[in-house]
Amino acid sequence: MKILVLNGPNLNLLGTREPDVYGTTSLALIEEDLRSAFPAVDFLFVQSNHEGTLVDTLHDASADGYDGVVLNPAAYSHTSIALRDAILAIDVPVVEVHLSNIYARERFRHHSMTAAACIGVLTGLGADGYRLAVDHLVRRGA
Ligand code: DQA
Repeated sequence: MKILVLNGPNLNLLGTREPDVYGTTSLALIEEDLRSAFPAVDFLFVQSNHEGTLVDTLHDASADGYDGVVLNPAAYSHTSIALRDAILAIDVPVVEVHLSNIYARERFRHHSMTAAACIGVLTGLGADGYRLAVDHLVRRGA
């Protein structure tokens, strides 16, 4: 099974970025943890600070026959119709993940443009959200 783990803007700074909100685990460590928890999964890890690159990466994942996507769109969750449309345009199940609980934060974070295009959302479970999202994709056979 091939799974894309796609992270949006500022998530390259995980570990040092607002650690009280996002924890002290780096993105590299989250990725390493996924590789060791799911040795049978063929992972592609991509992080970009650019909306168009995130859209292109979703298109490519579909064209390259990926079975599922774990997506943390970060701030673009709250603004990006382009990302929402990209999720709807591809025939690959996408699980949205947020490290923090977006509903317990500022009002502008309570709405996700992308969530309704996804098969489900995990929010507020920290790095566990990524692991649970992959586990779900594996169990459902993506
Ligand atoms: C986030 C939540 C977003 O509101 C924020 O803009 C992020 C990270 C999260 O993982 O908790 O960058 O997606």
